Amino acid sequence: MPGPEVIWWRRPYSLDLIWPDDDKKLLPPGHLIFGKGIFVFQISKIMKDADFVYKGPGSLKNEGKVTWTAPSNIALVKYWGKKGLQLPANPSLSLSLSTSATTTELSYWSNESSDEEVSFDLFFDGSPKPSFRPKVADFFKRILPYVPFIKDYHLQIKTSNTFPHSSGIASSASGMGALALCVMSLEKELSGLEDEDYFLKKASFLARLGSGSACRSIEGPVVVWGGHPEYPGSNDLYGVRFAGGIHPIFETYRDSILLVDKGQKKVSSTLGHNLMNGHPYGESRFTHANQNMSRMRDIMRNGDLPEFVQLVESEALTLHAMMLTSNPYFLLMRPNTLHIIESLFEFRQDTGYQVSFTLDAGANVHLLYPNEIRSEVEDFIASHLRAFCEQGQFLLDRVGSGAELKSENS
Ligand code: DP6
Repeated sequence: MPGPEVIWWRRPYSLDLIWPDDDKKLLPPGHLIFGKGIFVFQISKIMKDADFVYKGPGSLKNEGKVTWTAPSNIALVKYWGKKGLQLPANPSLSLSLSTSATTTELSYWSNESSDEEVSFDLFFDGSPKPSFRPKVADFFKRILPYVPFIKDYHLQIKTSNTFPHSSGIASSASGMGALALCVMSLEKELSGLEDEDYFLKKASFLARLGSGSACRSIEGPVVVWGGHPEYPGSNDLYGVRFAGGIHPIFETYRDSILLVDKGQKKVSSTLGHNLMNGHPYGESRFTHANQNMSRMRDIMRNGDLPEFVQLVESEALTLHAMMLTSNPYFLLMRPNTLHIIESLFEFRQDTGYQVSFTLDAGANVHLLYPNEIRSEVEDFIASHLRAFCEQGQFLLDRVGSGAELKSENS
């Protein structure tokens, strides 16, 4: 299937022409049908850094409260390596999850102090959490040029995750996503912002400054981050929803997370990404990731599951291969990670079910499969794979549609 073609552009807008399959189910809203031909048009505005600098009025509101829930996401094409201030070395694509999420309540009230630092308190599961403070303080420092009004307030952050804290699941994506959305709700209160598209783009932009993958935790079901010529509107500053409609099979796709090692990450993502600078295979990895994005785009549209399985697993193994061949090197899989992968290969061979695995920068295994074989795969997890999980624990999740506003000024 040919890629989208930019048929008109005048910075910063582009009008892209996307050729979908003849299958009308794949059509997104906003298409024209001429005779037998189907033409899908999409207008994208690609924001620049300066577009995100707050230009509205100062602190007109004395106090308020807002709560957002943002999902975790699982990358199919991985972000590994960065440049500049939190810009990806290659584009990535992820599925937003549904039940693995962070809920954050932000209360704010006027703060007269003229401190340079943003004033905040942080509670995790109801108790103060000093170990989270440095990351959040850094986040506020980075976003301050874009949301200077946060210094006019004292911010009280109360956050919790649906997944156990010590599960080896990174909470930075959902956590930074939820916090960025709360800050954007404050901006909306102050400026009367009505442009929902801008709201989401800026939330993703801010979240990225906290943690790269967090910029993919704002929308769903499939999000692309990093500029790629075949993805209209894609860019390095924020994540965008996959344009042109995904195959329906992916809308209900399942992700079961097998908790092989619930401990702290062995390699922090900052360190891991840095290992890609000067990595002997770095440049070829970045080229390969771009090629995989092209393949993934077609798969997302045509629902070719054997291709999906091959590509997703190859991406996961390549991520680990990068860590195995960096200096210093890291072996992040555990013996049980391999037991699970090998059992999965056998299961696939025996049943023909299209179940794939993917990995993050750790030992846990995500199993991805269509909803229609859900009960067969979940029986297999319980009977064969559970034994390889720490304390027999795993989480059942599915693709979700992005973050949700839970309450505002209640
Ligand atoms: C392996 O987003 O955690 O999960 O930007 O330093 O916070 P920072 O890194 P982070 O990296 C995630 C890497 C990954 C792959 C991915 O999610 O794309």
